[in-house]
Amino acid sequence: MKILILGSNGRLGSALARSWRKFAEKEIIPLTRAEVDLSDPEKAEAGLAALEFGTGDVVVNCAAATDVDGCERDRDLARRINAEAPGRIARLCASRGARIVHIGTDYVFDGMLDRPYTEEDQANPLSHYGVTKLEGDREVLAASPLHCVVRVSWVFGPDKPSFVDAIVRRALTNPDAAAVHDKTSSPSYTEDMALWLAEFLKAEFPGGIYHLCNSGTCSWRDYGEYALECAQRNGIPVLTTTVAPLNLSDMKAFVAVRPPHTALATSKFTRLTGITPRPWMEAVEEYFRHWQP
Ligand SMILES: NC(=O)c1ccc[n+]([C@@H]2O[C@H](COP(=O)([O-])OP(=O)(O)OC[C@H]3O[C@@H](n4cnc5c(N)ncnc54)[C@H](OP(=O)(O)O)[C@@H]3O)[C@@H](O)[C@H]2O)c1
Repeated sequence: MKILILGSNGRLGSALARSWRKFAEKEIIPLTRAEVDLSDPEKAEAGLAALEFGTGDVVVNCAAATDVDGCERDRDLARRINAEAPGRIARLCASRGARIVHIGTDYVFDGMLDRPYTEEDQANPLSHYGVTKLEGDREVLAASPLHCVVRVSWVFGPDKPSFVDAIVRRALTNPDAAAVHDKTSSPSYTEDMALWLAEFLKAEFPGGIYHLCNSGTCSWRDYGEYALECAQRNGIPVLTTTVAPLNLSDMKAFVAVRPPHTALATSKFTRLTGITPRPWMEAVEEYFRHWQP
């Protein structure tokens, strides 16, 4: 069985490529932007079509235009990378009897609900990133009933720095920390994602939309504060564990509108697999046990 990973230099794609190498019976084929560039959807499809894969194989698409503000500035590029190219690749996979597991985002929702979003909840993106990612989800699902869209949120892990790394790194030299308190979601640890996403490689796994993240909900401020506490417990010499609250509405540097509350409900995944994602705090704690500045 072949597993082709698009976006294999990214935060999630690197973790999957590294972690899945241990599967003796699967051939892992990491594909970087240099090998398959989604900004030219036709060329990307042709590049992938030149590779040998077929029935029973899986393409995992972790590649995306993930700069939320950048997607507002170059809307056409965002649409090509996040929607058109995944659509073409999904149709190519369908024609070969392969399945695509396409990674989606919580930013397809407007964030106005006061409970975690289920797969049945209405999407209503507020940003061009969210709009193009939703278009990508729809293109992928329309190509085959076997295809999966897996929406994740607040991805962190050892392969590429994210919010938690930035706040801890800053606190090594600066005693003032601040983060938005009125925006909430669920962090997703890439080491956990690698275990959970392996379920989607099974031939019998039903197609459709899934939500996947660690359990529990937090604000960026809670998340940052807990990361600093974990760092301190693990001997990382941070100068503070207190994070001052900022309002989302005060983040003037943001170009795109961010949805305020986008925690994801993962019960569909749990019903199918019997796996209950562990709490985000456990995952962050573990992450900082092995953290390197
Ligand atoms: N990060 C989050 O908090 C978050 C939240 C919700 C959903 N997601 C979704 O999760 C998935 C993985 O995100 P991530 O955190 O791993 O993001 P990431 O680290 O930014 O990785 C994205 C990958 O896409 C690649 N890429 C960008 N433009 C490309 C192009 N034109 N052609 C081919 N590859 C291209 C990047 O390549 P380079 O390495 O060459 O730049 C990178 O490897 C994405 O679908 C994202 O929308 C992420």
